[in-house]
Amino acid sequence: MILVAGGTGTLGTRLVPRLAEAGHAVRVLTRDPARAQHLAGPGVQVVCGDVRDPAQVAQAVRGAGTVISAVHGFAGPGRVSPATVDRAGNAHLIGAAARAGATFVLVSVVGAGPAHPIGLFRAKRAAEEMLRASGIPWTIVRATAFMEPWATIMGRMLETSGKILVFGRGDNPVNFVSATDVAALVERAVTDPGLRGQVLEIGGPDNLTFNQVAAILQETTGRHATVRHIPRPALQGIAWLTAAIKPALARQVRAALTMDTIDMTFDPTPTRRAFPGLPDTGMPSAIKELLA
Ligand SMILES: NC(=O)c1ccc[n+]([C@@H]2O[C@H](COP(=O)([O-])OP(=O)(O)OC[C@H]3O[C@@H](n4cnc5c(N)ncnc54)[C@H](OP(=O)(O)O)[C@@H]3O)[C@@H](O)[C@H]2O)c1
Repeated sequence: MILVAGGTGTLGTRLVPRLAEAGHAVRVLTRDPARAQHLAGPGVQVVCGDVRDPAQVAQAVRGAGTVISAVHGFAGPGRVSPATVDRAGNAHLIGAAARAGATFVLVSVVGAGPAHPIGLFRAKRAAEEMLRASGIPWTIVRATAFMEPWATIMGRMLETSGKILVFGRGDNPVNFVSATDVAALVERAVTDPGLRGQVLEIGGPDNLTFNQVAAILQETTGRHATVRHIPRPALQGIAWLTAAIKPALARQVRAALTMDTIDMTFDPTPTRRAFPGLPDTGMPSAIKELLA
């Protein structure tokens, strides 16, 4: 039995059917079973629970031979945060997996580190360290930014207003990977015992600026948009004003500022050479898949 925490998310929605189709029994942990309706099928069980609650996590992990953590608390419903989900929630999952004697696959981020300017990246690194110290068999899969959430956000703006808002200058290259490619690598991490104790880093074929993503979106959809930029000082003001009342928004705005300024490029070649069978989805294909 494979427990997938985060099975309802962008990655989980691509990972759970892959695992089930390969013949694995999969248990999806979600705070709201209604969010897992699209995953229903043979071999897929859905359990209700919150990774912030150790008792609910212990219940969900019972009987699992593998635990996959594909959760994050960067944004989303339920007043989540990187501290409570990526740090504490992962600690609960790792502890329960250790007690159950399960293997653990942690989905993390390329760049995870103790001094990273984005809190999520610091919390992911803390989870990685906890996992390494746990003594259980583990594999860490670090990914660059997923294409699908950004394409969805920008695509919605294009559709509803004919405008695309870009945070900051939008001229800093960022590596984007499709969640489909990441799901394929996570499946490999689960099924290949030779990958225990390894950190696998996956990125997509291109380092793209947000201005380029906006252009690709227009080309792929055939719809013209006015691209507007929110200047960096305005973003700094929004982050400052919303910090106390809307911490998730402030977090997202601060992260957008960081993505506009620090090196977010990545060379995917080593992992792609090591796993030649993985899909290598480009941004236009990911957008077309979303449109379909
Ligand atoms: N998105 C990216 O750009 C990106 C890049 C690199 C790595 N990653 C990593 O890839 C993984 C999947 O990300 P994603 O973008 O696919 O996520 P997503 O679509 O935003 O979904 C978040 C998932 O986390 C679950 N979750 C959040 N808080 C939870 C809690 N308190 N208890 C239980 N479940 C909780 C949600 O489950 P319910 O809402 O159903 O409870 C949902 O399945 C994460 O580990 C993320 O850090 C993401």
